[in-house]
Amino acid sequence: MRKLVITLLLFSLISTDLWAQKKVWNETEKEKTERLAWWTNDRFGMFIHWGLYSLAGRHEWVKMRERMTNEQYQKYFDYFNPDLYNPTEWAKMAKAAGMKYAVITTKHHEGFCLFDSKYTDYKSTKTAIGRDLIKEYIEAFRAEGLKVGFYYSLIDWHHPDYTVDRIHPQRAGSDEAYEKLNKGRDMDKYRKYLHHQIEELMTNYGKVDMLWLDYSFPGKHGKGRKDWDSEKLIKIVRKLQPGIIVNDRLDLKDYQGGWDFTTPEQFKVPEWPKYNGKRIPWETCQTFSGSWGYYRDEHTWKDTKQLLVLLIESVSKGGNLLLNVGPTGRGAFDHRAEKALSNMGKWMKYNGKAIYGATQAPAEFEAPEHSLLTYNPTTKRLYIHLLDYPLQNFRLPGYKGKVKYAQFLHDASEIKISKPHGYWMKQELGKDDINLSLPVTKPDHEIPVIELILE
Ligand code: GLC
Repeated sequence: MRKLVITLLLFSLISTDLWAQKKVWNETEKEKTERLAWWTNDRFGMFIHWGLYSLAGRHEWVKMRERMTNEQYQKYFDYFNPDLYNPTEWAKMAKAAGMKYAVITTKHHEGFCLFDSKYTDYKSTKTAIGRDLIKEYIEAFRAEGLKVGFYYSLIDWHHPDYTVDRIHPQRAGSDEAYEKLNKGRDMDKYRKYLHHQIEELMTNYGKVDMLWLDYSFPGKHGKGRKDWDSEKLIKIVRKLQPGIIVNDRLDLKDYQGGWDFTTPEQFKVPEWPKYNGKRIPWETCQTFSGSWGYYRDEHTWKDTKQLLVLLIESVSKGGNLLLNVGPTGRGAFDHRAEKALSNMGKWMKYNGKAIYGATQAPAEFEAPEHSLLTYNPTTKRLYIHLLDYPLQNFRLPGYKGKVKYAQFLHDASEIKISKPHGYWMKQELGKDDINLSLPVTKPDHEIPVIELILE
């Protein structure tokens, strides 16, 4: 009997995941929800990919794609002098676009540091600009009231001790070739460098709101938690910045505290992402075009409606959008990015209430035809985003008895709940449906939003 009780107890421990999960951070679900509250509310942030690759102007992976050596890549360091860099301008454009936080590349895979690290000379303070560009970014974005985050690449294609792997500019074709290439490279030294730089970023710039680490690729000739010593790294981060929000690319998905949100990239999730069967915090990162870093001749730029739907659809599934800008080698946003940000800002100015503090609508509300729903659980307002503008009649299936009042969000003008309009053919409404009578002329907003005040 005693054996049976012990077995059952062990089984319940494992199945409740208490035992199965490794812990690097003691925090209750409630505490985590509170720590993430501002981020969950704000929904919309700016990603900034900026570095030496911005001079090449051919994607932030140009060094890898063109298999450049450090010597061949050195010219971008030599000519890096972003004389137009004005982070206050960037912050104002982000704010006007409706963005509430920003994440900037402090160091991307190329290894170049935009901050004054004492562990390397491969940094902005040693280039012609001679300044700590991250310090200026932090001050400017905070001054505009935005939360500030750092992107930091675990990967480093410049550091002499970072071993050549399958995505490295000098990647090889055989195990023997890798062995030869990595002779003399000491990953232990690189790990120390990596941890020291994370300590600098978590110590020298005040309160940092987000940390966006990128990225683990375990497997043959790959790199994962052991290569970064991820467990030690996340403990450093949590100790120095206990309020910080961290993404999920340290290869610590099975560690409680090893990550805070998941990061679907460049695609739309079909539903609210889950882990162990539970909905989890998530943020999709997306680009205006086909590149994170400035890419002069890349023209797959999404139009305003596509960008707005990325944001609305993310919120409609309980997530955030981190939308990327790739500044030029002069340190400015190019005209295409400025236009895209301005167009999004026009919509956000009048429709931001459907985004901030909003999330997935309760299951009882079915999205009407050609629309997306968001819902604010605090104000209990439901928002219908009209992706295709209806002609006068707009059926809300199953909404009977649930709606007190309807209005356009942008101008708070009433939308009448009335019988469907039509000649020569009786319009049938389901017994649980209601109909909204919309003006024929579509409001002058890319995606008009109907705000429902619920019973
Ligand atoms: C991918 C890209 C990297 C970019 C990141 C943003 O990891 O390789 O260049 O910074 O996505 O999420």
